[in-house]
Amino acid sequence: MSSINYSDKIPNNVNLAEDRTLQRALEQWQPGFLSWWDDMGPDGSQKHDVYLRTATSVDADGWAQFGHVKMPDYRWGIFLSPALNAGQGERKIHFGDHLGETAWNEVPGEYRANLRRIIVTQGDTEPASVEQQRHLGATAPSMYDLRNLFQINVEEGRHLWAMVYLLHKHFGRDGREEGEALLQRRSGQEDNPRILQAFNEETPDWLSFFMFTYFTDRDGKFQLCALAESAFDPLARTTRFMLTEEAHHMFVGESGISRVISRTCSAMNELKTEDPARLRAAGVIDLPTLQRYLNFHFSVTIDLFGSDESSNAATFYSTGLKGRYEEGKRMDDHQLRGQSYRVLAVQGGQLVEREVPMLNALNEVLRDDYIKDSVAGVGRWNKVIDKAGIPFKLSAPHKAFNRHIGALAGARISPQGEVLSETQWQARHDDWLPSANDRAFVASLMGRVVEPGQFANWIAPPPIGINRQPVNFDYVRFN
Ligand SMILES: [Fe+2]
Ligand SMILES: [Fe+2]
Repeated sequence: MSSINYSDKIPNNVNLAEDRTLQRALEQWQPGFLSWWDDMGPDGSQKHDVYLRTATSVDADGWAQFGHVKMPDYRWGIFLSPALNAGQGERKIHFGDHLGETAWNEVPGEYRANLRRIIVTQGDTEPASVEQQRHLGATAPSMYDLRNLFQINVEEGRHLWAMVYLLHKHFGRDGREEGEALLQRRSGQEDNPRILQAFNEETPDWLSFFMFTYFTDRDGKFQLCALAESAFDPLARTTRFMLTEEAHHMFVGESGISRVISRTCSAMNELKTEDPARLRAAGVIDLPTLQRYLNFHFSVTIDLFGSDESSNAATFYSTGLKGRYEEGKRMDDHQLRGQSYRVLAVQGGQLVEREVPMLNALNEVLRDDYIKDSVAGVGRWNKVIDKAGIPFKLSAPHKAFNRHIGALAGARISPQGEVLSETQWQARHDDWLPSANDRAFVASLMGRVVEPGQFANWIAPPPIGINRQPVNFDYVRFN
């Protein structure tokens, strides 16, 4: 039941051949997807043979098979995790107003519009990130990194397939139209942009890419975890399998930044300096610049969780569409009526906490869970700096810093959480966020290094290769 049928035109483990109408609809969408990949997928990469993993089953062990494939031939398809309680009766809804009822296999009419909106919003981020990253191949710091970029890109493409399958199967004509629209919008395009702002920003360089995959793919993890709790079982099962792929994306980000730090620290020790100008002259990225990139990506990403108070968030939870992170592990009543949560606001020149109904604060709850998880990785980066004997600590900025959504939008707050005047902010923001000068410096380091086993000067090699291959393996064959 969990093995994947690769003899169909569209690989799947959902018995697609049994539903001819659905199969035909998806087969009609497929050429549109491939032509989107051709236009907006990784630039100039169509003929490369890339050492990619492909899902062979959705079981926890041994789901991936590795081999060189051309990306347009990647077997994108539809993979759902097996039903959670297979063999133990039906899955029950475990939060919200429908707590204790049987999970749904079809969309209840009254929740159709909201569910469609949730699926479309999630689906839109997947091709968006491929579009944002499409020029990075031209400046890859190594063949190993180039392969990781391409792996992420094909998997984001598959995540789009996952959402389009749900739209086609469960939302009829509206769903098919949404499927088309997902191929029409373009990241950063003025007249038809992607839905969420962070997915319209550029990913101009590899430092941004590693920060993006660490911070923004982790937003994906938390959104997917919340949807994996859904009362709508097909959504829960499809997001659960997407999460197994997301883990690799975050690994690329975390290990990428670790390697940048490691290279910078060795240069600091060799040159016995912490002077950013001397380190830049030596062609490595100074730690204060890394801190500014971190501040930027952290603050832009936490905006993705939405307004701190949201009646939509309350509705999505109460109606069972979207749970909390690790809903099943929490020891409360899973309905949250009459409970409260603290959110931040600026009042009289100070940051203050306000108690609001918990149900309305669920975006903030998810944001706080995300912050805990992402701060843990910053701690692991600090261990690399520590090990090199350098007295410097990276830190996540205050959650009120540089916010553009919710009650804190537009407030001037330092990374330490002090409320500032506009003048104070203008005088200091270049110390806290990447300046044009920082970005130009990072851009100046970007040059293509793709001989097997060679690495750009600003990043250390990884300790091990992919799938136990050596670091100097030919991960990408250029044809
Ligand atoms: Fe994704
Ligand atoms: Fe991802």
